[in-house]
Amino acid sequence: MKRIITYGTYDLLHYGHINLLKRAKDLGDYLIVGLSTDEFNTNAKNKKTYFPYEVRKQLLESLRFVDLVIPEENWEQKKTDIVKYEADVFVIGDDWAGKFDELKEFCEVVYLPRTPEISTSKIKSDLGINSSNQKE
Ligand code: CTP
Repeated sequence: MKRIITYGTYDLLHYGHINLLKRAKDLGDYLIVGLSTDEFNTNAKNKKTYFPYEVRKQLLESLRFVDLVIPEENWEQKKTDIVKYEADVFVIGDDWAGKFDELKEFCEVVYLPRTPEISTSKIKSDLGINSSNQKE
């Protein structure tokens, strides 16, 4: 059983997310998603999500290639999650290329190419939704 772990906010689930998750699952047998909590988004990522954590979690859990969703509550938990969930591969989009190389000590690290021209920020901007915590 090869276990894959990835992280993200996954707000307004879109085809860039689906492509990433499907390719992540294709690297192994069991896909774990560390989903950024509302508090982590607000306090550390400066993101204000449209859908709250429980809704984002339900959407991810409904995908056939996602096996487990766990909360991502801080930047430091990746190492302990990799050990706890016995992950063989850490995967994330290449907007993070090189940023998590220190995890190579614990498992394989893969940066997958992002799907071009789509992001939650773009959807929000196109629809006129404020996506940061800055006061409007
Ligand atoms: N991702 C991707 N292709 C896209 C958008 C996202 O492969 N077009 C990947 C990211 O690289 C990450 C995961 O999907 O591994 C979750 O990304 P997230 O930051 O939640 O989504 P974004 O659409 O990038 O959100 P934002 O615009 O708020 O940064």
